Amino acid sequence: MNPNSNYLCIMGEIRNIVVLKNFWQLIGLLCLCAALTACAVPAAGAAELLQPTPTIDRLAAPPMPEHPTQADLGAHVYYQVCMACHGDRGQGLTDEWREIWEEDANCWQAECHGNDHPSWGFSFPPTCCTAIIGPISLPTFQNAQELFTYTITEMPWWNPGYLKTEEFWQVTAYLMRANHVLPEGVVLDENNAFVYNLHPVDPHPEDNRAQILLVTGLLAAIAGLVFFQSHFSNGSSSQK
Ligand code: HEC
Repeated sequence: MNPNSNYLCIMGEIRNIVVLKNFWQLIGLLCLCAALTACAVPAAGAAELLQPTPTIDRLAAPPMPEHPTQADLGAHVYYQVCMACHGDRGQGLTDEWREIWEEDANCWQAECHGNDHPSWGFSFPPTCCTAIIGPISLPTFQNAQELFTYTITEMPWWNPGYLKTEEFWQVTAYLMRANHVLPEGVVLDENNAFVYNLHPVDPHPEDNRAQILLVTGLLAAIAGLVFFQSHFSNGSSSQK
């Protein structure tokens, strides 16, 4: 056997090993990048979770700044008049929220708000009360004006129109702000309320180009690996 062919064969094997080793390193590196990217967000969340959670008094009045905005004043109206039924976070009269009232947690008992309630009481539907803060809340209202009109004519449930008109504007501003659809500095009134949409179309849909690039890169790397592996294994066997 030609000693040169032995030499070529050994060199071929070494090259295969080096190329393959580099490839595995590359794949390893890409996987590491993918894993780090995937972990970055949950890790940040986990770090937040590790912070001790301060005990929050859910029945405490909202803080009142020195120069309150319309929405700050609305937070107080909400706290005093709406919160009992619609929840401290606007989540609605959920089981979890009703537990706050301990022995009165079953609102539909006669002594409370059942059909045969005492004269000083009132009843409300067993489905009461819907969430009014949150991403899927208030689906039937287009804008602040519609929300205001409903609220002033229908709420509070036990005595619609019980508040002053300006207080209804305040609580509308609070609900708009809590739903992240009230631009800073805006004071709502009958001249501008129809402009502020409750469900604006997101002008910046979630940018997922980075993930698409990552997945494409990984697929390309795997395809490259398969190609090189088959190419070099053929090459090395033909050299023997
Ligand atoms: C006694 C309980 C009660 C109180 C207090 C109350 N509501 Fe309601 N609210 C209801 C009920 C009942 C409905 C009808 C829909 C339902 O069953 O949840 C309703 C519906 C609403 C809706 C319409 C939700 C939708 O998506 O259709 C809004 C907005 C609203 N309330 C705002 C307020 C505001 C603002 C206040 C305070 C000024 C308030 N409510 C006080 C019981 C209450």
